[in-house]
Amino acid sequence: MSPFRLTRTLNDDTLDAALRHDVLHGLGSTPKTLPPKWLYDARGSELFEMITCLPEYYPTRDERELLRTHAPGIAAEAGARTLIELGSGSSEKTQHLLDALPDLHTYVPVDVSDSALDQAGRALARERPRLAVHALVADFTRTLDLPDTPGPRLLVFLGGTIGNLTPAERAEFLTSVRSLLGPGDAFLLGMDLVKDASVLVAAYDDAAGVTAEFNKNLLAVLNRELGADFVPDAFAHVARWNPADEWIEMRLRSLTRQTVKIPSLGLTVDFADGEELRTEVSAKFRRPGIARELHQAGLQMDRWWTTDTSSYGIALARPLP
Ligand code: SAH
Ligand code: TRP
Repeated sequence: MSPFRLTRTLNDDTLDAALRHDVLHGLGSTPKTLPPKWLYDARGSELFEMITCLPEYYPTRDERELLRTHAPGIAAEAGARTLIELGSGSSEKTQHLLDALPDLHTYVPVDVSDSALDQAGRALARERPRLAVHALVADFTRTLDLPDTPGPRLLVFLGGTIGNLTPAERAEFLTSVRSLLGPGDAFLLGMDLVKDASVLVAAYDDAAGVTAEFNKNLLAVLNRELGADFVPDAFAHVARWNPADEWIEMRLRSLTRQTVKIPSLGLTVDFADGEELRTEVSAKFRRPGIARELHQAGLQMDRWWTTDTSSYGIALARPLP
């Protein structure tokens, strides 16, 4: 068994303060919104793993296939000794990269979900005796304090999670990625691509209702953490394609006129009948657009791979001098 370390950069107090801030701000604005990272408590991470196995949810299968096929090429280009993964979740697809990188010394999975990191990190350390695993509980939208490990570094951001950031957040995020990389380092980005709206909507509104449960779990998080009295079933899950912004919007629609109390914030929140709370966007990309965004952040797209159907893409970028 190789060394396993887990560093928490978010303690209960900072998390609690951040949640309170986001809820006060998000439920106080019109339209109501909440940032997606609160979807991923232990139950949320479990539900997301179930989503990745749904017949309608193609992104995980597409990305796994791309990584399986191209991991040797990616590894040859990157030659990394440290692999850093943001929003690593179960680290399941990452195995293809770990297999392909012969000189890898350290794997640094980064996630807000303590439970997902602990489980995935421990299992990897057990299975890969020569790999040091240093897990980091951290928010990738904030400044990251990465452990000092040998270069070159390959930073990976998979699962289409880039799409869960708004364009402004994305620009800031890519700029901070650039600042984490030195000459010889590389950035691997997996993203879902624009396609037929019916395929997209089905992926976010599956027949078995798992995505609906995942979305509503956010309300259970607010009930538990803030003593709120949301009735999750008084809301309906909505997934809608927004063609102007080219993103899927996930919303919770109030099924009646209702008032929710959040005592620990001294807050009462009114919902009109049919009023929607936006919980997440999942932007879909096109090659020229993402190449431009990378370039604006000081990153040059060197390689681009897509599935046969051009459903999903992976880009390898390097810091511009
Ligand atoms: N990479 C995995 C998981 C994708 S789901 C895959 O491809 O299957 C998105 C992951 O990002 C979840 O594990 C979630 O806990 C994590 N996450 C979401 N917002 C985050 C944030 N702001 N900082 C760190 N991790 C975050
Ligand atoms: N990163 C995933 C995506 O955008 C997250 C996700 C999948 C998601 N299904 C969801 C988020 C449903 C909220 C609701 O595809």
